[in-house]
Amino acid sequence: MKLSESTRTKILDLQKKYPVKRSALIPSLHLAQNEIGYLPLDIQQEVAELFNIDPNEINAVVTFYDMFYEEPQGKAHIHVCKNISCMLRGGDELLNELCKKLNIKPGETTSDKEFTVVPSECLGACDRAPMLIAGDKAMGPVKIEDIDHILHEAQHG
Ligand code: FES
Repeated sequence: MKLSESTRTKILDLQKKYPVKRSALIPSLHLAQNEIGYLPLDIQQEVAELFNIDPNEINAVVTFYDMFYEEPQGKAHIHVCKNISCMLRGGDELLNELCKKLNIKPGETTSDKEFTVVPSECLGACDRAPMLIAGDKAMGPVKIEDIDHILHEAQHG
């Protein structure tokens, strides 16, 4: 797998916008992931070459942030908060019901590649606990009975 010339050019252009080109790493990984859908090792290697850094450093970044993926993902991501405020207000039950409905475990992708469920640390909206982010939409407080509607919206916009 290789990045397109267009993405490679965008990454090189991005590097010129920063005094230290390494500062362009995170947005460059987003560009790569937007094209490929995830960041397999050969793409990480290619980005490392564009930055002239060790591929292990790229892998450390990719595995640290939960917005980067090393495996193919579903079309829609559902991030479910597992942190304390949400947990105290039913976040675990929400995650379990969502996964049960989709017939997957937390962190997995459905067999039709429509959804990936990502258990997440605090998503920054504790006042809306229990909350989740479906696609780019934050929702909460979410009730178990809201799940079908949330899945439909995430799938069909
Ligand atoms: S604890 Fe869930 S959003 Fe902060």
